[in-house]
Amino acid sequence: MDVSGRALEIARDAADERGLRLRTAQADLESDLLPTLDELGGTGGWHAAVCTNFLHRPLLGALDGLLVPGGIALVLIATVDNLLHNARPGRPFLVERGELPELCTGLEPVSFEEGWFGQRHEARLVARRPR
Ligand SMILES: C[S@@+](CC[C@H](N)C(=O)[O-])C[C@H]1O[C@@H](n2cnc3c(N)ncnc32)[C@H](O)[C@@H]1O
Repeated sequence: MDVSGRALEIARDAADERGLRLRTAQADLESDLLPTLDELGGTGGWHAAVCTNFLHRPLLGALDGLLVPGGIALVLIATVDNLLHNARPGRPFLVERGELPELCTGLEPVSFEEGWFGQRHEARLVARRPR
């Protein structure tokens, strides 16, 4: 899911190159509700959700309602410490130190790391909806 048709095209091309099936959906995740799996033609709930380099705090707080019990979320976002060495992304797109697990309400952390990964300072969370 992405608001940009071009971004979705890049994702589909990357999947094609790897022989993977990928369905995309265009949505403004800051104003639209996150679609349920049923609305996208599937059934039940999501078994996994991945959100990388896109920060909209209410979206992260809604993930638990979309995942099946035991479903996994993987979230990766640069932190404010990233500004020490990189001008972008700007502050509105960065999480505070230690903030990410608190944003994913209703999910229990499986692993949480924060630190420099190459040139970027990132928060990386894997969390699970309790069964
Ligand atoms: C920094 S890029 C990250 C792309 C990809 N997730 C990754 O990690 O490589 C941010 C992405 O968020 C998308 N985006 C920005 N605002 C959005 C919105 N309101 N709803 C959905 N997607 C949005 C942009 O189009 C862009 O593809």
